[in-house]
Amino acid sequence: MENVLVTGGAGYIGSHTCKALSQAGYQPVVLDNLVYGHDWAVKWGPLEVFDTSDSASVETVIKRYEPIAAIHFAAYAYVGESVTNPAKYYRNNVIGTMKLLDALYAGGVDKLIFSSTCATYGIPDGETISELQPQRPINPYGHTKLMVEQILRDYDAAYGLRSIALRYFNAAGADPHCEIGEDHNPETHLIPLVLDAAGGKRDNITIFGTDYDTPDGTCVRDYIHVTDLAAAHLLALEMLKNGNKTDAYNVGVGHGCSVREVIDAARRLTGKKIEVVEGERRPGDPPFLVAESNRIRDEFGWEPSYSSLDSIVETAWSWHQKHFIND
Ligand SMILES: NC(=O)c1ccc[n+]([C@@H]2O[C@H](COP(=O)([O-])OP(=O)(O)OC[C@H]3O[C@@H](n4cnc5c(N)ncnc54)[C@H](O)[C@@H]3O)[C@@H](O)[C@H]2O)c1
Repeated sequence: MENVLVTGGAGYIGSHTCKALSQAGYQPVVLDNLVYGHDWAVKWGPLEVFDTSDSASVETVIKRYEPIAAIHFAAYAYVGESVTNPAKYYRNNVIGTMKLLDALYAGGVDKLIFSSTCATYGIPDGETISELQPQRPINPYGHTKLMVEQILRDYDAAYGLRSIALRYFNAAGADPHCEIGEDHNPETHLIPLVLDAAGGKRDNITIFGTDYDTPDGTCVRDYIHVTDLAAAHLLALEMLKNGNKTDAYNVGVGHGCSVREVIDAARRLTGKKIEVVEGERRPGDPPFLVAESNRIRDEFGWEPSYSSLDSIVETAWSWHQKHFIND
């Protein structure tokens, strides 16, 4: 069985990708410092508790498992914190990645898939974002991801490390079999927060801005089911194995849902009353963040299968009840 090194594999998207790797016949070897991850989410292969910046230990892990490729999820991803504590973000997301790359190079691993983000685009010019849109991040988090994209292009040219950066839009939903799901602490993502309000863990949900130039005045985002996102990593891995060159792709479904639509779907699917507070806009929130995802569809044959808003909210709610209410 071929091994794949998965940094951040004890986290939300990483653990779903580990399940997909295992279903495709690979053994995911998780490297996670468990700062935000959960050991219960590592079910499909070994867990090595190390930091990506600990090159010596990462090299030992690589020697032991001889992975054919690495998928690099490990990063900090709280946009607001990246503004107040940028050092933490540049140190982990950029320097930590460079240390990881040193270890991959030393261990002869020459294929990498990288978790990038739509935050590298900043405020988009239009309602949808193609890969040709200029990348102008507006916060340190987005800058760290853009820097790594550049580092990866340079490392391919100089050291032959081929990579695919996947620029995710809003990952959401949970494993349809409820084996794993989203559990961030603190949680900042809309769908789990709305479900916290449905489940009684919080009193209400605040809508930040109701006067945007969008159909119902609230922000529109592209929600991509985490299982579909995991599938995109599998396809990227196969593309790299087949010689695909270093490149970057958007991963989103290509249509957006507003905050009000998410809340309405949650009310309908949970049968709960969800109280809403209408708040001020947050600085830096663009009205629309919606992917153009034809490149990954055309070149990888990727097609989302769970990405109706209802399937996202339904799976997230099943997970939420199992994990936060019944357990
Ligand atoms: N969740 C989203 O909607 C979204 C959107 C765009 C991009 N991303 C990116 O996807 C990746 C995964 O996001 P997630 O939501 O699964 O986050 P997550 O916090 O659930 O997972 C990240 C994991 O990385 C681990 N980690 C962090 N720094 C580490 C280090 N230096 N060494 C070892 N382990 C480390 C954490 O313990 C955690 O388990 C991140 O890189 C994030 O920036 C996420």
